[in-house]
Amino acid sequence: MNEKDEKKKSSNNRRNFVITSTIGASAACALFPFASGLPSVLDPVTKKSDGKQVPWTKVTALATLPEDGTPTKFEVILEKVTDAWTTYTNIPAGAVYLARNGDEVTAYNLKCPHLGCAIDYRKNSNDYFCPCHNSTFALDGSITTENSPSPRGMDTMETKVEGGLVWIRFQQFRPNVSEKIPLS
Ligand code: FES
Repeated sequence: MNEKDEKKKSSNNRRNFVITSTIGASAACALFPFASGLPSVLDPVTKKSDGKQVPWTKVTALATLPEDGTPTKFEVILEKVTDAWTTYTNIPAGAVYLARNGDEVTAYNLKCPHLGCAIDYRKNSNDYFCPCHNSTFALDGSITTENSPSPRGMDTMETKVEGGLVWIRFQQFRPNVSEKIPLS
């Protein structure tokens, strides 16, 4: 191969590299917005309206919950809440029923998804009851009243058990709509 051929080959290699790199970069740019938005698309409920993840709040020790799954009511106290200028501590945020299944716990918001009344757990019938408009819910939070005014079942929240403690991402949801939409 003479010098002219060498230069031509080198020039072709550079051009191929530029084309390949440009295609690769374009593909990455096309995918990136989708990839970066993926977690919030898949997990919109645990995001706050400002896009931040709802913080974990410690509720109780796993050992305090009945092993047969009977729901137990707990107040939820947020250790720290920060607005634009001020940090508040130990803020009562609401209440939940916690129901244990082995080492897993389900958290149900005490607020009725209809208009926000406090839901009772009824030991005798082993179900949930909202006295405001006589709605009943099964232990899994599903609606059991025919023609219930509640547009959805009881609101659950994300939970985890760590070091023998139960943690939840406590949230309130918009009342009287069929979708579960976080309020903050
Ligand atoms: S507020 Fe619970 S059924 Fe209406």
